[in-house]
Amino acid sequence: MISRLLILLSIISINAHSLDSRKIELLRGRKNSDGEKISWDKKFSSDQYVFGKDPADSLTKYIKFLPKKKLKVLDLAMSEGRNTIFMAKKGHDVTGIDISSVAIKKANALAKENNVNFKGIISDLTKYEFGKHEFDVILCYYFLDRNLITKIKNWVKPGGYIIFENFTVNDPVESRKNKKYLLLENELISLFEGERLIYFQELIHTNRRVSSIVIQKK
Ligand SMILES: C[S@@+](CC[C@H](N)C(=O)[O-])C[C@H]1O[C@@H](n2cnc3c(N)ncnc32)[C@H](O)[C@@H]1O
Repeated sequence: MISRLLILLSIISINAHSLDSRKIELLRGRKNSDGEKISWDKKFSSDQYVFGKDPADSLTKYIKFLPKKKLKVLDLAMSEGRNTIFMAKKGHDVTGIDISSVAIKKANALAKENNVNFKGIISDLTKYEFGKHEFDVILCYYFLDRNLITKIKNWVKPGGYIIFENFTVNDPVESRKNKKYLLLENELISLFEGERLIYFQELIHTNRRVSSIVIQKK
């Protein structure tokens, strides 16, 4: 009798455990705007720059593809502004958008430190509308929302540039999380099919697996 009771109790506890882990899995998905803002604000709340103050390595290489004149640049999900400020220091007219007011405040401090300006927009970029053909260059580093691609193509001028970078499903760290926000192998090529491909790379022999692309809109 006692052994039967013990078996029953262990079955109940296994079910409770699997339900818990399923709940946690569901909560891991991208949250609604408010939840997203709260969790990113929290992430950026320390004095340290989570993504550093230096621009992404790839951006420092890819700027050679851009025209040598003052450009209107949009940095999507700009965070604490490492790429925004880099582009502003190159003399461009830069707008950045991010849902986290804490991140944009830190980007403002970074701009001040570097004696440059940018326009910061605190908003959910999935709901925000920029003008058609408003920008010469659009940067999108580490924010993947496939529904945004058509909008990005629309916001950039014909002849303008899109620079996009994200982790892929092969990344050993990120692949443990929600794969929806990771690029499939070579996916960037198909997402921007029909536009002029300037440069594409997908790192497969490095610790972190990242894919990036430079596109010129036709
Ligand atoms: C991985 S970080 C981007 C890093 C940044 N682009 C860089 O390379 O330094 C993701 C950013 O997206 C922002 N974010 C998340 N959801 C957003 C949304 N719906 N609208 C605008 N920004 C959002 C977060 O606040 C965070 O700063």
